Amino acid sequence: MKKQLGLCLIGAFLVACGGSQNTQESEAKETVATETNSMKGKQLIVASDCLSCHKEQEKLVGPAYADVAKKYDNTPENISMLAVKIIKGGKGVWGEVPMAAHPQINQQDAEEMVKYIFTLK
Ligand code: HEC
Repeated sequence: MKKQLGLCLIGAFLVACGGSQNTQESEAKETVATETNSMKGKQLIVASDCLSCHKEQEKLVGPAYADVAKKYDNTPENISMLAVKIIKGGKGVWGEVPMAAHPQINQQDAEEMVKYIFTLK
């Protein structure tokens, strides 16, 4: 299990390097500290299919990430609860359209994604 996690991390870093152009296009004007902490989650989101259904500030198929961030408090419980929803999918919170499951994403990466979403509050 440890080994697998390591491989995932290496994978995430490779993706992070490959996707660095997207970072430069980012309009986020947050402090450097927040940027650094949320960078991994953002890269994971960019590398996955999330953006085909979610935008940061506007509703698309799913809710805007900024709206998700406003709805929930930034607590460890909510981070892990939302991470589970990303992995298993969910519906009924924002409407009748369900969110696809992402069984290929591990809990730790999903939590990084949620942490990034919470920076959009
Ligand atoms: C096929 C479209 C689709 C894709 C792809 C998708 N989502 Fe969603 N997402 C939705 C919809 C629709 C909802 C609202 C579900 C509901 O009402 O409970 C949602 C809800 C969410 C929520 C809020 C869940 C809640 O219970 O409040 C989060 C967080 C989220 N998505 C993150 C992600 C992330 C991260 C990814 C990429 C790994 C992703 N989504 C990919 C459609 C999508």
